[in-house]
Amino acid sequence: MGNGIAQVAARAGYDVLISDVSEEFLQRGLTAIDKSLQRDVDKERLGAAEKSEITKRIRTETSLESLRGAGLVIEAVTENVNVKTEVFQTLDRIVGADTILASNTSSISITKLAAATKRPDKVIGMHFMNPVPVMKLVEVIRGMATSDDTYEKVRSLTERLGKTALDCQDSPGFISNRVLMPMINEAIFTLYEGVATRESIDGIMKLGMNHPMGPLTLADFIGLDVCLAIMNVLHDGLGDQKYRPCPLLKRYVDAGWLGRKSGRGFYEYGSQ
Ligand code: 3HC
Repeated sequence: MGNGIAQVAARAGYDVLISDVSEEFLQRGLTAIDKSLQRDVDKERLGAAEKSEITKRIRTETSLESLRGAGLVIEAVTENVNVKTEVFQTLDRIVGADTILASNTSSISITKLAAATKRPDKVIGMHFMNPVPVMKLVEVIRGMATSDDTYEKVRSLTERLGKTALDCQDSPGFISNRVLMPMINEAIFTLYEGVATRESIDGIMKLGMNHPMGPLTLADFIGLDVCLAIMNVLHDGLGDQKYRPCPLLKRYVDAGWLGRKSGRGFYEYGSQ
């Protein structure tokens, strides 16, 4: 999702630095950004010169140190509390005292991430939706110590990005994934129990509920590892059996069938 966030920020006029662990990942991100912007050029919603200006505003680096001068950092690393905590501790050491640290976490406690830093008042959740250039929502989550100043700045930034900010308390899965993910998990249970085929399950939800994608297609789109990580956060954090991840979801993740990104999930995909 990081490249989608970078694209939207650069399009809104911000200078953006993307930091990732390898050149290969950075190149993959830049290719996705180029493809997404080209789609808008082809549809005559963006000029070719404007596209070139946007891409010029995006730089890439493999070291976190390169973020030293940033006014705001939006973290979008893997959905794992230990990895995120380590990134927040490192960022806290590197960036200036006034820099806001936002997390694009799908479900992890902002209060917990903030507590790993010496600036909990400047830590906040900015939860974007996939695909970021298309989806209008940013769920804004305040941790226990997030200041009014940080919150106001992030709300106005969200508006400048052309998105709608909606507030949510710091609770497992926030609103988006607390409501969405049990639906996806239940759809996986119906497949697991042989209640219907994958096509029927998705078709019923698309045609019957007017969802743009069926839940199994959407799970593949989000990433099955991400879906499992979110279900685990809901299960651990809310302590209710109704959030237990479906065994079939666990089995697919164990098999490395992670959805679109790995070429196989509930459906099979050609080379991406
Ligand atoms: N970049 C830029 N534009 C894109 C894009 C991308 N990556 N993907 C799609 N689009 C644009 C297309 O250009 C098109 O624009 P237009 O209608 O104005 O011409 C529009 O989106 C529709 O695209 P398509 O016609 O190619 O395909 P669809 O009609 O099937 O739409 C979709 C694709 C927007 C992804 C739609 O299927 C959808 O809304 N799916 C559900 C997405 C969703 O639920 N996202 C939230 C996931 S949960 C999440 O992110 C939270 C996390 O924590 C797990």
